[in-house]
This record gives sequence, C-alpha cells and structure tokens, in this order.
Amino acid sequence: MTTANHNDVASGLVQAAITAAEHAYAPYSHYPVGAALRAGDGTIFTGCNVENASYPATICAERTALVKAVSEGQRQFDLIAVVTRNGGFPCGICRQMLYEFAPDLRIIVANLDGEILNDAPLSDLLAHGFGPAHLPHSAEK
Ligand code: THU
Repeated sequence: MTTANHNDVASGLVQAAITAAEHAYAPYSHYPVGAALRAGDGTIFTGCNVENASYPATICAERTALVKAVSEGQRQFDLIAVVTRNGGFPCGICRQMLYEFAPDLRIIVANLDGEILNDAPLSDLLAHGFGPAHLPHSAEK
C-alpha cells in the first residue's frame, strides 16, 4: 500500500506521542504527557510536559509541540494525538492555544498502551472558541 489509511495515520501519531511522553519532565505530578501534532505539510512535531519548581511555569505537552512547530514556520495543523496513562484530555489553555491556529483540528486522546479513547474535533472540546477573527485589526497571520 502506498498511502497510509485513516487508522494507520492515527496509530502512527499515537506512537509518536507515546515516545515523546518518555521525555516528559514531571517530577512533581508524576503524570507524563506526550503529544504529536501534524502540520499541513505532513511534518510531525512532538512534545512532552516540562514541569518547573515554580509550578505555574510548567508547559503542557500539547503546547510544547505547538510552539516547536510554529517556531519552525508552521501555522496549519490538522491532527494531534495526546497520550497519558489514563486518557486525560487537553487542558483548557492548550485547547485555546490550538484554536488560534487550527480551529478545525482533530484531537485523538489515547493512553500509553496506544488505545484510542476519544477522537473528536476541537470544536467539541472548546465551544464558541475565541480566536483571531475576534480581533481583526490586531491579528496577524
Ligand atoms: N498536562 C499536559 O501536559 N497537558 C494537558 O493538557 C494537561 C496537563 C501536564 C501538565 C503537568 O505537567 C501535568 O500534566 C499535571 O497537570
């Protein structure tokens, strides 16, 4: 087969997120999170949570992946996989950050065994998102 089907793409992304979770720096919560974000050109950007002794300075796995991607020139995304030990969903701050660039993003939530527990659009997780369209004079894309 020359093209990956729907399930292959999802499980490949989940595996990339599981690998990323191995790099999680979570000495305070002991809750590793991994993310894998697919950009419009097909490039995969991974991320893990990186905690800090000043707890609020912690960055989530999803935002790590997003800022890595944006800092490398990517601004379009269609799919993200997020993995935790128990299928935790992206937090509100991550939903908001993702909405900025990808209001139509598809979000796959899985566990560290690779089981997909939820597969839904961001709009299901973030109703009435606030985005660049609300700030037409200051948003620069
Ligand atoms: N965490 C994430 O990485 N992503 C989320 O969407 C939810 C929470 C991390 C932050 C912190 O390191 C740990 O999980 C516990 O909150």
